[in-house]
Amino acid sequence: MKQPGGDMGGAGVGSGDAAGGRYGEAVFPPGQAGEGERIDFGALAYDDTTMARLHALGAGPGWHCLDVGAGTGTVARRLLREARVESVVAVDRDVRFLRERPAPGLDVLEADITAPGTVPGRYRLVHARFVLMHLQKREQLIAALAERVAPGGVLVLSDAVDLTSDRTPATPYTAVMRAMWQGLRESIGTDVSWVPSYPQLLRQAGLGSVGAEIHVPPLLPGSPISRFWADTWQRSRPAMLATGQVDDASVDAAVRYLDSDRCAALSAGMLTAWGWKPVR
Ligand SMILES: C[S@@+](CC[C@H](N)C(=O)[O-])C[C@H]1O[C@@H](n2cnc3c(N)ncnc32)[C@H](O)[C@@H]1O
Repeated sequence: MKQPGGDMGGAGVGSGDAAGGRYGEAVFPPGQAGEGERIDFGALAYDDTTMARLHALGAGPGWHCLDVGAGTGTVARRLLREARVESVVAVDRDVRFLRERPAPGLDVLEADITAPGTVPGRYRLVHARFVLMHLQKREQLIAALAERVAPGGVLVLSDAVDLTSDRTPATPYTAVMRAMWQGLRESIGTDVSWVPSYPQLLRQAGLGSVGAEIHVPPLLPGSPISRFWADTWQRSRPAMLATGQVDDASVDAAVRYLDSDRCAALSAGMLTAWGWKPVR
C-alpha cells in the first residue's frame, strides 16, 4: 500500500542523501541476496532486549503500535504474538521482507518516512530501531515521530553506539569498525555520533519521563552479532575501502578474527531511549 497522504513531518525531513546515496541504494540494497538474513542476524542479537523493554513499558493488549523501518518485521510480529498488542503498522521503504511473513494484526505500509505525510494516525507505541542513524535531520524526524504518538503513549528509539575510542587496543576488529562507520557516513550519511543525545532529543520533542539504556551483545565466534558484523562488513566493503583506512586483506583478517577464539573486542551497543507523551 503506497500512501501519498497523511501528515508525518509536514515537510520532507532527513532524506539521508550523502555522497553515494542513501540506505538501501548504494549500500544494503534489499534486493541483494542475503540482505534479509543480515537484518535477521541483527534481530537475533537484539530482539530479546527490545522485547523486554517494550514489555516493561507496558506494551500489551489494546495497544496500537507503529514500527518504523520495520525491516523483516521480527519486532512487529513478536509484539503481536507475545505482547498480544491489538495491531502493528509496519512501515518500510521496501516491504518485500514484511510481505513474505504476514501475521494477523500486521498492517504493512510501504513508505519513506522522510517524505512529507508518510504515516497517518496516532499510536500508543511508536518504535524505530536501527533506522534514524541512517537518516539526516534527526531532530525533525524525532519530532515528526513524536507527533505520531497518542497522548499517554510512548516513543521508543534504538540505534547503534560506537564503543571504540582513541584508547581502544588496535585489533583487526577496531580498524575495520572505524573504517565501517567512516565509510557509511561518507557513502550514505549514517552517523551514530549523536545517538547518545537521544534522551535530550526526546525531551526537546515534548516527551517526558525519559529513560535510556544500552545493551552490548558479546562478540563470541558464530554468535548472531558476530555474523551480523561480518556480513555488514562484506556489504559495506567498497565504502570501507574508499576511506583508505583499510584494504581487502585487513577486512578479510577482521572477518577471520571475529570468528576466532583470538577475538577480544566490544561490539557496538544498542542504545534504547524512550519518552512519554503527556496525556494532555
Ligand atoms: C538496519 S534495518 C533495521 C530493521 C529493523 N528495524 C530491525 O531493527 O530489525 C533498517 C531498515 O530501515 C528501512 N529504512 C531505511 N530508510 C528508510 C526510510 N527513509 N523510510 C522507511 N524505511 C527506511 C530499511 O529499508 C530497512 O528495512
